[in-house]
Amino acid sequence: MVRRRQLYEGKAKILFEGPTPGLLVQYFKDDATAGNGTKKGVIAGKGVLNNRISEYLMTGIEELGIPTHFVKTLNMREQLVKEVEIIPLEVVVRNIAAGSLAKRFGLEEGTRLPRPLLEYYYKNDDLNDPLVSEEHILAFEWATSDELNDIYTYALRINDFLSGVFRGSGVLLVDFKLEFGRHYEEDEKRVILADEISPDNCRLWDMKTSEKLDKDRFRRDLGQVEQAYQEVAKRLGVLPEF
Ligand code: C5P
Repeated sequence: MVRRRQLYEGKAKILFEGPTPGLLVQYFKDDATAGNGTKKGVIAGKGVLNNRISEYLMTGIEELGIPTHFVKTLNMREQLVKEVEIIPLEVVVRNIAAGSLAKRFGLEEGTRLPRPLLEYYYKNDDLNDPLVSEEHILAFEWATSDELNDIYTYALRINDFLSGVFRGSGVLLVDFKLEFGRHYEEDEKRVILADEISPDNCRLWDMKTSEKLDKDRFRRDLGQVEQAYQEVAKRLGVLPEF
């Protein structure tokens, strides 16, 4: 077996050098962390499920005409992705108040927001990913104004698309986090969607029972974590055969 060079290890994924320049292999781990790494655990089979779920959703997004880093699935835990220079922002889109938004503004979890709310957080573990404004992003040159325009437009279109996909599966898309990067191809630079879209970075509630089907089950010790991830894959019709 060829030993691939590991380029980066994150909390839930590892990036390896790809077969040709400009391509990487993204490996999905079962490891789970919460509270910026203060809580650690393993969700058995999570990597396999997130690989499938993210493949499915990224493919749909690509079909909308929004560029993504996803190229193809290689095996149960790995996908080939385009190399990007990550833009150090966590882009959160919210439809319903939950988590840190509910806490910050004293809202009851489950309150529908009058319109989708887009927030930016500066991706920096040492600082606990602080909430930032567009002004911070431009002043500190984390992204240009053109890039930020793309990110804003893409994020809202992705929200429409994902909300519809999940609604069709009886699931409410409460909120989610996206990451974007700069991809260079033939002297052209463009913003593309990177990272993953899975129950690790979305809040997903059953439309009938409001049961949580996402990583909040791990964060809040609600139990049945593996089952929740499986349920999402099953509802989307992408549950792999083990
Ligand atoms: O915690 P908070 O309410 O700000 O999270 C909003 C959304 O962003 C949730 O869906 C959560 O899963 C996601 N998120 C994430 N990674 C982070 C912070 C939040 O995927 N570091």
